[in-house]
Amino acid sequence: MGHVLGIDASTTATKAILVDGAGAVIGVGVASYGFHVPRPLWSEQEPALWWDGAVAAIRSVLASTGVPAGDVVAIGLTGQMHGAVLLDGAGEVLRPAILWNDQRTGPECDAIRRAVGAERLVEITGNDALTGFTAPKLVWVRDHEPEVWRRIAHVLLPKDYVRLRLTGEYAVDKADGAGTLLFDLAARDWSREVLDALEIDPAWMPRTWEGPEVTGVVSGEAAAITGLRPGTPVVAGGGDQAANAVGVGAVAPGTMALSLGTSGVVFATTDRPLFEPHGRVHAFCHAVPGRWHFMSVMLSAAGSLRWFRDALAPEAEFADLVAIAGDVPVGSEGLFFLPYLSGERSPHPDPLARGAFVGLTLVHDRRHLTRAVLEGVAFGLRDGLDLMVEAGMPAPAQIRASGGGTVSPLWRQILADVLEAEIATVNTSEGAAYGAALLAMVGAGWFATVEAAAAALVTATPTAAPGPDAGAYREAHAIYRDLYPALAPTFHRL
Ligand code: XUL
Repeated sequence: MGHVLGIDASTTATKAILVDGAGAVIGVGVASYGFHVPRPLWSEQEPALWWDGAVAAIRSVLASTGVPAGDVVAIGLTGQMHGAVLLDGAGEVLRPAILWNDQRTGPECDAIRRAVGAERLVEITGNDALTGFTAPKLVWVRDHEPEVWRRIAHVLLPKDYVRLRLTGEYAVDKADGAGTLLFDLAARDWSREVLDALEIDPAWMPRTWEGPEVTGVVSGEAAAITGLRPGTPVVAGGGDQAANAVGVGAVAPGTMALSLGTSGVVFATTDRPLFEPHGRVHAFCHAVPGRWHFMSVMLSAAGSLRWFRDALAPEAEFADLVAIAGDVPVGSEGLFFLPYLSGERSPHPDPLARGAFVGLTLVHDRRHLTRAVLEGVAFGLRDGLDLMVEAGMPAPAQIRASGGGTVSPLWRQILADVLEAEIATVNTSEGAAYGAALLAMVGAGWFATVEAAAAALVTATPTAAPGPDAGAYREAHAIYRDLYPALAPTFHRL
């Protein structure tokens, strides 16, 4: 059957994985790099890093596995979402890419709401204007770098720069396209109304494709550099969150994905273009054709536990620290933790939000503080889930969890109780790169649909189910929910 290649151009590295016909990852190549913070709140990266990283990672995985280039039947791409890659008419990079974690565009978000109309913006794109998205970055360049703006001929997303170098084609998948805030969510394509309102030339935007569709083939020049076979098909793939969901098999309504890394993401597939009326959770196209998804992004999830350990118990192993929290009753005896250590994105798009412990008494010790962190993160995830359900999504039966935080059985149980859904782990790893590989398998014709590929290759094992504590958590969550609105004025004064 041959092999497929999944390539992930992330913020910290480009990774290439080779997957065989049975779905096994037989090799991984990685090339790491950094990003620039030229000023506080800014975050930029040279697109050449992604391409050089891809070349190194591809060469490395081909060499380490010994798989001949002719045996790679298709390639899937994924990568960090939302970055603005600006190119001139010859495809030359005009300035460093402005990344998803760049926070300079608060005023541009206001300008977009004014230009399109705040309600109309959510109606068309499914989303509010957030600093993370691509559109505000373009508006910033329009207003601050007119000499760059005048020379723009193409706008791409990060992984699609790798696609350009690999195939010579300007193309984007619909999942990543929707993350620009320039998409008509229901039409699954660029919104002429939003582009016009922001003075963005529609000719700059690449053609959009469904995740498993072939957008082009490896060029002779790219083949010579990477060691791949010229003519190897490259599928559209997906932004990293949609591709990760494919990789854990969260491809149909009812199965959600939860990733508990530094950030915490709740991802839910929908069969219609649903959106939350205020855009407090993201609504994007899925990498699965004809499906959409909600997504809530908490900025400090397992990152909160890491901060807590580093600040207060640097000598402790995570497993030991979390184990002591098991002695404490549900609700940490009236102690709450707000996990907004790096501001927040969903459901409170507030870069000035702060973390807090609320309700401390003499009864509380390190065990309570630890448990409050685990519970506070779960409550924050529940906030996002509740908004999705209020917007018309059926409550999930199963949540497929991945990321470092889900290693802890106690945290998994807290998540099952707070989210009131079964928590399962999956047999696949390599996250978004694996999802990109599955999309490549569909593009190669190994499977008829993404759903069929996921059903054949991804197995979920339930590891926690909602128990008798769920009711107590519901009451505690009601208190938690009141804390951000009460404290926000203080956070802003701080
Ligand atoms: C998703 C998001 C991040 C980036 C970085 O909305 O901002 O997942 O894609 O990987």
